[in-house]
Amino acid sequence: MDPKIAKADEEVQKLISKKRNKSVEDRRVGSEIFDKQTLETLYKLANQGYINVLNGAISTGKEANVLKAVKKDDSFVAVKLYRIATSDFKKMQYYIQGDPRFNIKSNNKRQLINNWVNKEFRNLSRLYEAKVNVPKPIIALNNSLLLEFIGDSEGNPAQIVKNQKPENVDEFFNDLLIELNKFINDANLIHGDLSTFNILNKDNYPLIIDVSQSVVRDHPIADELLIRDIKNIYHEFKKLGSSFSLDTIKNKLDIDLDID
Ligand SMILES: Nc1ncnc2c1ncn2[C@@H]1O[C@H](COP(=O)(O)OP(=O)(O)O)[C@@H](O)[C@H]1O
Ligand SMILES: [Mg+2]
Repeated sequence: MDPKIAKADEEVQKLISKKRNKSVEDRRVGSEIFDKQTLETLYKLANQGYINVLNGAISTGKEANVLKAVKKDDSFVAVKLYRIATSDFKKMQYYIQGDPRFNIKSNNKRQLINNWVNKEFRNLSRLYEAKVNVPKPIIALNNSLLLEFIGDSEGNPAQIVKNQKPENVDEFFNDLLIELNKFINDANLIHGDLSTFNILNKDNYPLIIDVSQSVVRDHPIADELLIRDIKNIYHEFKKLGSSFSLDTIKNKLDIDLDID
C-alpha cells in the first residue's frame, strides 16, 4: 500500500473512533479521501457530537465525496467532504467573486474551499428557510458540510432522478417547478447546475441538492445560469416522457426571460 494511504488510514483509526465500522467500503473511502485537515475536521465534528461513526460512501464525485455517518442516537447524517487536490479553483473564484455576500480576495486554496463550503451552507440555509425541499443544513466546518441524510430509516440513500425515474413524470416535474419557483422567487437564488443528477427522487417527490455554485439573482451571470438550468430540465424531462413546453415551464416559474 502507498505509505501516504497507510498513514491516512492509521490516523483515521487513531482520531475518529474505536467503534468505527470496518467494512471494506468504509476503509476504501477512508484511505482515498482523508487528508490531515479532513481528519482533524471529522475529529472535531465527532467530539462535538455531530457524528459518531462513519458508515460508508454514498457518492465519490469529482470534487467532493459524500459519506453517511451515524449519530449517537443511531440517526443518520450526510457528510459532504471537498477535496483540495481535485477542486476547480477557477470556477470557485469566478462564482464567489460576483457574489456580494463573499467579498473575499484570496489565492489560498484551502481558504477558497472553506468559502465554497460556507457558500453551500448559506445557500442551503436560505433555501431551507424559504421552505424549498432541500436537505436541512447542519453545520459547515473547513472543507466539510453536514446535511440531513435523505433516505429511508434503514440508511439507504434516496436515488437521483437520473437513476430512478419518477412514477408519474409530469406530476413530478410539476412538483419540481413548484420547488424551483420558491428557489428562484422566495430564496432569490439560481441553482446553476440543475439536472437529473442534482435532484433526488424521495418517494416520488423532488428534493434539490448540490447548491454550492448557486448564485444570488442579481449576480452578473444569474440570467445565463437560469436559462441553462431551464433548458437542461426541459430537455431531460422531455426525454423521460414529460409533455411540458418551455412556455409552460416559464409560466409555472413566474419568470420572464427569452429562452429559445
Ligand atoms: N443529503 C443527502 N442525503 C443522501 N444522499 C446525498 C445527500 N447529498 C448528496 N447525496 C448523494 O451524493 C451525491 C453527490 O452529492 P452532490 O451534492 O451532488 O455533490 P457533487 O455532485 O458535487 O459530487 C448525490 O448524487 C447523492 O447521490
Ligand atoms: Mg451533484
